[in-house]
Amino acid sequence: MNALATIRQAPGLDRYLDLLEHRLERAVAAFPGRLGDVGTDTLAAGGKRLRPLLVFLSTPMDERDGERAVAGGAAVELVHMATLVHDDLLDGADLRRGRPTVWAEHGEATARAAGDYLFARAFAQLAETGDAEAVQILSEATLALARGEAMQRRQAFRPETSVDDYLARCSLKTGKLFEAACLLGSGTNGGGLGGFGLALGIAFQIADDILDCCGDFDTTGKVAGVDLRDGTPTLPLILAARRDDGVARALAGEDVPDALDRVAATGALDEAREFALRYAAEARAALDGQPDRASLETLTHIVVDREG
Ligand code: IPE
Ligand code: IPE
Ligand code: MG
Ligand code: MG
Repeated sequence: MNALATIRQAPGLDRYLDLLEHRLERAVAAFPGRLGDVGTDTLAAGGKRLRPLLVFLSTPMDERDGERAVAGGAAVELVHMATLVHDDLLDGADLRRGRPTVWAEHGEATARAAGDYLFARAFAQLAETGDAEAVQILSEATLALARGEAMQRRQAFRPETSVDDYLARCSLKTGKLFEAACLLGSGTNGGGLGGFGLALGIAFQIADDILDCCGDFDTTGKVAGVDLRDGTPTLPLILAARRDDGVARALAGEDVPDALDRVAATGALDEAREFALRYAAEARAALDGQPDRASLETLTHIVVDREG
């Protein structure tokens, strides 16, 4: 995501990211012991910090260095981290951010507990500010994440999953947390930037699902092909399965050699990209044209064109 470098020049962002990182470090290390150590390791593995960036860019310019933006950014990133720790366990993913995942390194029980710990630390950040609206925003998104993961279990090994059902899943498991990040920044008055975040999140997940078919470990930090192996009907896989019976069988759980090559040969990756571009355009259309929205607009291009 190198184009992020242009956005990183936004006034005050360096300072915000410093404050954020310190806040995150304190949040995960607050309770010394195994969970604190696992939390610290997970944090140190990095990540794009995209959701806190959304909090920052959605916050009115004169409030961006305030406690509300930092606490909101830390809370949303901690929920994200918690979800990834649980998601990797559910998906059986061995590597993330170029490193072994928590369950792969420490076992299932620790991954469950570490995810729960990170959720708890997320809400503690908001509790510290006493901002009931923020708690409400993040709790709704966290519920959506759980429902999205449950929906994914139900859809597993079903190549006939409809595009609408896939999009509903993306909205729950990814879009709602992006929406929450934007609302934590903008507030909900006048609708805020929630619609922008939701559409951006769906575009982001579609791009992630394309990268799972053709991405490079060195840039994504994740192993490609996990979705197909798990029978997760992502958009590129659903579209490819309609055109190639071999892909449909692979998605249903059969061992089909070269299934990912077959996916690429169907043209489904480009077609899925068109969907992502449409959601990115929908996100742009939800912006109100104010000058400090330029960075958010840039993000709508980056999330689709990224390589990691
Ligand atoms: C990964 O999110 C999970 C999805 C919603 C696809 P990111 O790609 O933002 O993960 P990090 O934080 O940068 O590792
Ligand atoms: C997004 O789905 C996960 C969450 C929103 C928790 P994926 O399963 O595709 O995410 P990655 O690819 O593991 O990061
Ligand atoms: Mg996953
Ligand atoms: Mg993925």
